[in-house]
Amino acid sequence: MVTFKVSRVDTTPFEGQKPGTSGLRKKVKVFIQPHYLQNFVQATFNALGADRVKGATLVVSGDGRYYSKDAIQIITKMAAANGVRRVWIGQNGLLSTPAVSAVVRERVGADGSKATGAFILTASHNPGGPHEDFGIKYNMENGGPAPEGITNKIYENTTAIKEYLIAEGLPDVDISTTGVSSFEGPEGKFDIDVFDSTSDYLKLMKSIFDFPSIQKLLSSPKFSFCYDALHGVAGVHAKRIFVEELGADESSLVNCVPKEDFGGGHPDPNLTYAKELVARMGLSKTHSEPNPPEFGAAADGDGDRNMVLGKRFFVTPSDSVAIIAANAVQAIPYFSGGLKGVARSMPTSAALDVVAKHLNLKFFEVPTGWKFFGNLMDAGMCSICGEESFGTGSDHIREKDGIWAVLAWLSILAYRNKDNLGEGNLVTVEDIVRQHWTTYGRHYYTRYDYENVSADGAKELMAHLVKLQSSIDEVNKIIKGIRSDVSNVVHTDEFEYKDPVDGSVSQHQGIRYLFEDGSRLVFRLSGTGSEGATIRLYIEQYEKDSSKIGRDSQEALAPLVEVALKLSKMQEYTGRSAPTVIT
Ligand code: G6P
Ligand code: ZN
Repeated sequence: MVTFKVSRVDTTPFEGQKPGTSGLRKKVKVFIQPHYLQNFVQATFNALGADRVKGATLVVSGDGRYYSKDAIQIITKMAAANGVRRVWIGQNGLLSTPAVSAVVRERVGADGSKATGAFILTASHNPGGPHEDFGIKYNMENGGPAPEGITNKIYENTTAIKEYLIAEGLPDVDISTTGVSSFEGPEGKFDIDVFDSTSDYLKLMKSIFDFPSIQKLLSSPKFSFCYDALHGVAGVHAKRIFVEELGADESSLVNCVPKEDFGGGHPDPNLTYAKELVARMGLSKTHSEPNPPEFGAAADGDGDRNMVLGKRFFVTPSDSVAIIAANAVQAIPYFSGGLKGVARSMPTSAALDVVAKHLNLKFFEVPTGWKFFGNLMDAGMCSICGEESFGTGSDHIREKDGIWAVLAWLSILAYRNKDNLGEGNLVTVEDIVRQHWTTYGRHYYTRYDYENVSADGAKELMAHLVKLQSSIDEVNKIIKGIRSDVSNVVHTDEFEYKDPVDGSVSQHQGIRYLFEDGSRLVFRLSGTGSEGATIRLYIEQYEKDSSKIGRDSQEALAPLVEVALKLSKMQEYTGRSAPTVIT
């Protein structure tokens, strides 16, 4: 057996290694500096403490972006040197973020071992490649991101780090071939287990959904399907699940071969960046598609986000989670016993609130960030949750789950069409959404993103909006001067959340202007960018009258958009006359 020694390498701290909500994200050129990644990994081991590191079983994988392969070798050698017992690596280092969560919770090694944590190598929906982003985050034994207590400790450790441990004599692992290799270090045996990336995740999906009924839908000549992984890791899982297991045609997969640079694209599933899918689904303004598929979906780089489309029809993420929640008990076996509760992030539209009220479900409004849902789920208070930022998921894991969302929609379509696949008209995605609006009312919704604006300008804009909140009368005077046809502002605040599970309080989670008719304007700064600042403006208007639910959303929201832009002095503070992305 190959043996290795532990070498202690002297190092000095790097500035700015503070992990954000989704780990540490920086340009590749920052990460490849000597000792940069090593410092962060050692700081993580030190923060976890010997109890959680010695003898541990760690998953190390990610979305396959540039630098992942090198990072996997480095982390593996550092894990060995720190006394970790085994490292589990998805084949080729590829595991979507939800698949990592599933592996941590569900996989049992050949020797009966269970994972105790995971390093996920991803910068999610940020572009990849030598000049773009890399990222790393640590997830705990529940399969969810490390809590703030740990991430703060990691950061503290990075500011004082003096040395890191790395195995000397441990060869690079061949991550392209599955199998276990064993080595011997000063603290005993160390195993590297390279395993099939999809098997465990697939097993979990099969325990949640009725695969035969989805298969029947996918094989019906009436139905057609398209999935765009934007060259992210979801492509690997999609091929296995949609094509090999569920019988979709191989041609339904677009950009499903993972690439280190995501083909030069921005792997974020929205109407701007998922161009090919948008064109195929007949939603492009410049290209006309004669016969789009009935259903289309896209994922982000690490496969936790999703966008759902029908033929020439966009489903807003806020509607998507509401519709899944409204249909889950009937259409998805995992939920047949009922829902424990539902939750959305604050800027997500109130479509889910209406469903929760109607079905008498526990409901939670949390700040942006999946970790808030995780707490509720660990406490058994929430089954389904979602965010306007194209994230949807359930308590089957502790991350949002792009493929789960697609399977949820396919389940609803299969259920609604169970008697229609022979004769009768197909109930389409658009039919399901319109029926939902008729029952529950429609939340017109749009989000304007101003990406990479100056951080100072963004801060000033936010400060201006907070200052305005000191007088609602003044706000209403300004608004009436802009548009007389919008209702009155009745409440303004900065959203604050007290976690019902651990009692922790999160402040300054977005600036809100709430209107008498239920409309809302929300402003917040993105927490996931790696350069400058990104301002997000969320605009929402509720319409109960079923004769008024069929309008174009940009047209319906135009008055509120105008108010939001002028009230915030958007152009003045950002120098931008238009947003980078509208969803
Ligand atoms: C990540 C988190 C989500 C969150 C999103 C917000 O994707 O996992 O829970 O909604 O970031 O991003 P933003 O850029 O708006 O801070
Ligand atoms: Zn992601």
